Amino acid sequence: MTKPSILVTRATFPEVLDKLAQHFEVEDNQPDTAWSKQDLIARLKGKTGVFTTSGEAIDADVLAACPELRICANTAVGFNNFDLKAMTARGVLGTNTPDVLTDSTADFGFALLMATARRVAESEHYLRAGKWDRWRYDLFAGTEVNGSTLGILGMGRIGQGIARRGAHGFGMQVIYHNRSRLPAEQEAACKARYVSKEELLREADHLVLVLPYSPEAHHAIGAAELAQMKPTANLINIARGGIVDDAALAAALRDKRIAGAGLDVYEGEPKVHPGLLAVPNVVLTPHIASATMPTRLAMGMLAADNLIGYLVHGKPLTPLNPEVLERK
Ligand code: GLV
Repeated sequence: MTKPSILVTRATFPEVLDKLAQHFEVEDNQPDTAWSKQDLIARLKGKTGVFTTSGEAIDADVLAACPELRICANTAVGFNNFDLKAMTARGVLGTNTPDVLTDSTADFGFALLMATARRVAESEHYLRAGKWDRWRYDLFAGTEVNGSTLGILGMGRIGQGIARRGAHGFGMQVIYHNRSRLPAEQEAACKARYVSKEELLREADHLVLVLPYSPEAHHAIGAAELAQMKPTANLINIARGGIVDDAALAAALRDKRIAGAGLDVYEGEPKVHPGLLAVPNVVLTPHIASATMPTRLAMGMLAADNLIGYLVHGKPLTPLNPEVLERK
């Protein structure tokens, strides 16, 4: 029997390719060449499955050009690069990689929070530039983390991981806002109190964004929301670009309307708004919140298992649109 053909869009672990090769004819991209949409379509024609990263848009055009496609396995928990509605309409399954990245991503959210509050990047640049000549009582004095109020917008698995770290590790008061309130036992496990978005903005000393991107979440934090935050507060975004209005944030940071920001994601990344590059009170990282080698390997293996699970056994592990399965 001939093996189904799949495409792997970006460089990945050899172990992941080896696993895929046991079941599929694999076209990979180990040189990690940047492909245009037309390149992607040309390679995807005739393939049954695709292993994607969040950088490749699987939209209506791609789906229309590749009618043999049955599954898109994203190596990310977020899937705003998928037009899931169009995929479902065409009977194409989407999968993502939840759970395996929860802890490393929550760790990174906390790293960014700490680095922002305690001005780690800014003070390191100062030292490397040879500007440190003597101690001063207020040299890079930052914001208190222990005992402060941690606000979380979006309380899924990663949000809860951040809440637990804040409550149990740093004695923080945790408040959160989410589309739906958590069951009482889950709130108790992370000592989190549900509040309105207005109270969250008003009360948080450190506001961490962990909500998924959707059109409704576009610019959930813009000039009006930033104006409601404390001037001493820090904003951390490990969710998705577009949730924050980057131009409004750059202006708020420049005018010290909030103390600082820690950002891992950007509108139009990998481009970064020039206003953010121009201000010192922001820590900028290149979308690496899940990036530890064990976690990235686990994400690759889960995406591979989704392809194998669906195309070989009819049972994907983490489907995003299970209605496609029900229709079969
Ligand atoms: C990373 O941003 C992810 O969604 O996994």
